[in-house]
Amino acid sequence: MTTDPILQELLQRLMAEDSLTGLVISPNKGVNTGITKITGRRIVLKGRPYWQMEVRLTKQVQHINVPHINTVFAEQLDSLLDRCMFSTLNLKTSEAMYQVVANPDRSSVKVIRHGTKSAPKAPQEPEAHNRTKNYIIPEGQPLDFLQQLGVMDTDGRVMLPMRRKFVQINRFLEIVDDIYYSLPNRDVLRIVDFGCGKSYLTFAMYHYFTKLKERNVNMVGLDLKEQVIEDCNRLAENCGYTKLNFQTGSIEEYQDGYSDTDMVVTLHACDTATDAALEKAILGKVPVILSVPCCQHELNGQVSNETMAPLLRYGLLKERFASLLTDALRARILELCGYKVDIIEFVDMEHTPKNLMIKAIYTGEPPSPHKRREYDTLVAEMQVHPWLERVLR
Ligand SMILES: C[S@@+](CC[C@H](N)C(=O)[O-])C[C@H]1O[C@@H](n2cnc3c(N)ncnc32)[C@H](O)[C@@H]1O
Repeated sequence: MTTDPILQELLQRLMAEDSLTGLVISPNKGVNTGITKITGRRIVLKGRPYWQMEVRLTKQVQHINVPHINTVFAEQLDSLLDRCMFSTLNLKTSEAMYQVVANPDRSSVKVIRHGTKSAPKAPQEPEAHNRTKNYIIPEGQPLDFLQQLGVMDTDGRVMLPMRRKFVQINRFLEIVDDIYYSLPNRDVLRIVDFGCGKSYLTFAMYHYFTKLKERNVNMVGLDLKEQVIEDCNRLAENCGYTKLNFQTGSIEEYQDGYSDTDMVVTLHACDTATDAALEKAILGKVPVILSVPCCQHELNGQVSNETMAPLLRYGLLKERFASLLTDALRARILELCGYKVDIIEFVDMEHTPKNLMIKAIYTGEPPSPHKRREYDTLVAEMQVHPWLERVLR
């Protein structure tokens, strides 16, 4: 299609000027090509300029990184325009927006130039993108909830103080993407986020399931803080997220149908609040649990072992050891309750020290006596009685 003389001339000019900063291709809705949208933006990978083309398919997103060489880029663009039978192509430059509209029979195009209003205010440098190349939520694509949460500006640029949060959101979505196929194939996925707080990650999950995966969901965020819940409900309403509901309450007292839940998420819920969330999930045999524990104090006050005395005599080491012990025992309890468990890094240590995630998938496999013995030996040796074990017994 870039062989169309009008489009060819326009592209050649913008490339010669090096003024193209982004593009959006809308496919022909009357033809089912499986593509819902294509966006392109300039990035830098390992010091070299590229165009990153994001191809949104009905159930997934593909990223194609094209070297920023005019002929290579033009060829790739041509192939994508044909693949999605494009109806419009928006070309964004630092000064204008060019809307290229294909005629119904795709024999020619019409170009409409819009003024500076929808174009970026200043020429943009390509971002240093070698770390952010395959983000599920890419920078440069404004999303309502991220704007309202103050993570992005109206052009989709990430606000500097929120960059870590942006990284965390994307990392979390990668993990959700990994477990996607472990979720039941039900009409409506039911998800509970215990201790949701300001709910950056809850909103991101809602976006992932409803917009990127096009699934029906029924999501609940629960937190102790009334004002926070009020704010979250207002934001959900503003974004039109009708199946995302926030409730004030404690995890310990939550009774609202967790046995019918497909995924329990609990991220940074303090101390034994994490255990209360795990308890609910275990009792409900919830298929997927994602839990990032936080400030584990409980076992720090219990642990005692003569052989470990040189380690336990230093407060800091004892605290870290007690945290690791808590998570190891949580993981083992989950295994004993029929879960396959992984402990993974949530985000790099450089972003937060609270970086362990317990990822548990229900298999229903009965526990081996050996695993049970190992658990009993460890708690006896360390003289600890974890909350989770006490409530589940
Ligand atoms: C550190 S914030 C984490 C917020 C969010 N999950 C995140 O990771 O960004 C912890 C939240 O857990 C909530 N929380 C702590 N204990 C709770 C409990 N027992 N029941 C409900 N919410 C609780 C707190 O009110 C707080 O908002």
